This record gives sequence, C-alpha cells and structure tokens, in this order.
Amino acid sequence: MAHLILGAVKRKCEVRNNQCRCKSAVRSALQNRRRQGVGSGVMEQPPATATQALPGPARQGAVYVQGMTGGGKPTVPVRQDALEAAARANLSPEAFAYIAGGAGRQATMAANLAAFDAKRIVPRMLRDVSARSLATRVLGKPRPHPILAAPIGVLELAHPDADLATARACAAVDVPLVISNQASHAMEDIAAAMGAAPRWFQLYWSKSDALVASLVRRAEACGCEAIVLTLDTTLLGWRTSDLDLGYLPFLEGRGIAQYTSDPVFRAMLGDKAGDRQAASLLFMATYSNPAISWGRLQFLRQHTRLPILLKGINHPNDAHAAIDAGMDGIIVSNHGGRQVDGAVAALDALGAIVRAVDGRISILFDSGIRGGADIFKALALGAEAVLIGRPYVYGLALDGEAGVAAVLRNMLAELDLTMGLAGCREISEIKKGLLF
Ligand code: FNR
Repeated sequence: MAHLILGAVKRKCEVRNNQCRCKSAVRSALQNRRRQGVGSGVMEQPPATATQALPGPARQGAVYVQGMTGGGKPTVPVRQDALEAAARANLSPEAFAYIAGGAGRQATMAANLAAFDAKRIVPRMLRDVSARSLATRVLGKPRPHPILAAPIGVLELAHPDADLATARACAAVDVPLVISNQASHAMEDIAAAMGAAPRWFQLYWSKSDALVASLVRRAEACGCEAIVLTLDTTLLGWRTSDLDLGYLPFLEGRGIAQYTSDPVFRAMLGDKAGDRQAASLLFMATYSNPAISWGRLQFLRQHTRLPILLKGINHPNDAHAAIDAGMDGIIVSNHGGRQVDGAVAALDALGAIVRAVDGRISILFDSGIRGGADIFKALALGAEAVLIGRPYVYGLALDGEAGVAAVLRNMLAELDLTMGLAGCREISEIKKGLLF
C-alpha cells in the first residue's frame, strides 16, 4: 500500500492537510475510478506486484490513495456501524424497519452479534504470510473466495434497481448471488444481469407443489447452480418493527416478482393475472406452507438435478435428517434473527452441527457476519463458506450497484488481512485452534 501512496507522490502530487493540490493527479484518480466502474468513492488501482494484488492491500491502497489525492472519503462507509447509520438516513422508516428489524425483542439478532464478539482470534506470528490465497471449494466447486450474497427479498425497498444492481455487483466481484424467492425482479432478468457469473436460487415451499416445481424448473433454465430451500419461514416471524409501523411490503405488491412472472401462479390468478392487489392476496395465501415435513423433500429431490441446500438448520439432529434426505448441504442460519426471538445464535449452533455432519455434506453459514474477522471465525468453526446479508443491502441503499460491490470488496479485503495477520496463508489453515 505504501508504494501506491508513494506512486501518487511521485506523480508530483503534493499531499497536505488531506488535500491534494496537484490537479492532474486528482483528474487521473477520478478518471481511473470511472474506468474501473467501481464508484462508491473508491477506485481500484491496477496491481503492481503480487502482494499488492491481494484483496486487503489493494483495497486499502485504493481507499487511502483516493482520500489523499483529493478523491474524497468512501461514499459507502467501511465501519459497519457507520454503514448502517448512513443507510438508515437514506431509507424510509418502513424500508429501514423491514431490512434491519428482527423478531420480538430482537434478542436473536443481538445474540448473533454477541456470539461473534465472544469468540476471539489468537493471531500466530512469523509464519511468512507474504503470499496468501482466499481460494477454496464451495459445494465441491473451486471458488476464488468463501463468500456468497444471501437471498434478500424486497430489495426495491433499498434501491429501485434492486436485484439487478445487486446481480451486477456480485458478477463484478465474482460473488455468487443466491436469488431470493421474494426478489423484486424475475429470476430470468436477474440471471441475465449476471452474464456467466454464478448464481443459486432460494426457494420457499409454497402451498402449491406445481408452483414449487415451476420455480425450480425456471431456476435450472436460467443457470442457477444450486437450490437453497429455506425452512425457517413456514410462517412469518413476529416482526415488531414492521408491526409497529403497520407495514408489510408484500401487501403493496413488492417482492413478489418470482410469482407474478410464473406461469403456474398466473394460471392460479386466472383472469386477474394483471391485477396487483389480487396477486398480493394470492401470494399471502400461498407463499409458504407450514405443513411441509422431512418426507416432502423427496418431491424436491425428484424435481431437480441441482444440488439442494437446506437453509435455517440450527440443531445437529436436523443436520442428520438433511443427510438422510439426500441433501447436498445445509446453511446454519436463523434468518438474521427475523424469525424466532430468543433463538440460539447461529454461530453458537455451528460447532455441534459441524461435528455431527463430520464432512459428509457442505455446511455454509449466515446470520451476523459484519466483517472479514467474522468470516474468519465462522470458517474456523468449520463453515465451508458464508453468506453476507444486511451489510450489502446497506451498500445498495447508499450507492446501488457500486455500493454492493464496495461492501463485498471490503469484506474480502478484511478477510485477507485478518487471515494474514493471524498467520494463515490459505483458507484451509483457518482452524478452530486459532480461536479462544
Ligand atoms: C432476509 N433473509 C431471507 N432469507 C431467505 O431465505 N429468503 C429471503 O427472501 C430473505 N429475505 C430477507 C430480507 C431481509 C431484508 C433480510 C435482512 C434477510 C435472510 C438472509 O438470507 C440471511 O439469512 C440473513 O440476512 C442473515 O443475517 P444478517 O447477517 O443479515 O444479520
């Protein structure tokens, strides 16, 4: 990073009081930023050396050089508390409540974060971490890093470009997007925005099996590489912040694009297929099915050749049941504390599940990841990869596509630096023994 700043100085850039007085350096910094298309107040510098190409130093360099050459501070704050506060200021009270809120007293949300705080990293020294790699395998496939973007519904509350902006950002940073069943755009359009970049599809099991089969068929057809079946939302949780505002986005026809674009759902609507209110009401009546049980998973298994992961697992016995049902993976998650108040923190559930599964299927994790150190801790406890949730929605709210990309890049940068500073060169070296 130091050589990036020195490079700016070499270009006869005089840095004083955080203000660059060299107009040409400022101009070239801004041009560079536009060329990179990264926005969010942070340009990405072309790497000059192998070390510099690593995401941590590259990102630090980009941020500091921009700040010191007159390009300004990042539009999307790096600190998580500042990120959330800035997004809040940009959102309506209803939108912020829907995105940030949790169930009941919000105790599960708090526990998710507290569980990360309670686990401490014990850095190891003198291990030559000059060359590092975030490369790993997720669901058996090689990936450049261990993060995905979680399925988040109703992204139009954060930004009008919603899932399309998110999809483009994920493609740019090479982060697989788990397309939500409650997205604001049809999955075909989201997939088209991603080009060849990887995506998965998240499914809610509706009261209509024909609709379930149709959604899965469409996901296969638009290039999704896995189906994530979310189990924890067979009923909507007691979301106190939304209740106090008397606001639920689905009732105004938001977040139901997968349904209104689906031939089976449209057939169910009959001659009301173009009627937004009728679509909302039918959605509310059918979107989830509290009657499903383990035996029904065979139906899904028979209707797709894609790997299936179960999202919302918190008990080792449910992990065993997933294996018995022929599932390919599980996601240890409590839906970011939005469903059951007073539930076990997802991170606290992870260790026992990892022991129970014993490597037989993939284990992913979400709920409470707020930075690279959190990713490190979840990996150390045995997760193969993690899903980023609310933070990227805050980035979306602040700067659309560029905002999502900024948040994802910051996560990877901090993971790279945490890994190196803790004495790890590779993801496989991140082990439980590095936690206290
Ligand atoms: C979600 N989540 C979610 N999960 C899912 O399977 N399908 C969905 O449509 C949604 N929608 C959704 C909307 C919003 C606004 C949030 C915040 C979350 C849950 C999501 O995938 C993930 O489990 C949590 O976001 C993880 O918690 P943190 O890390 O964001 O706190």
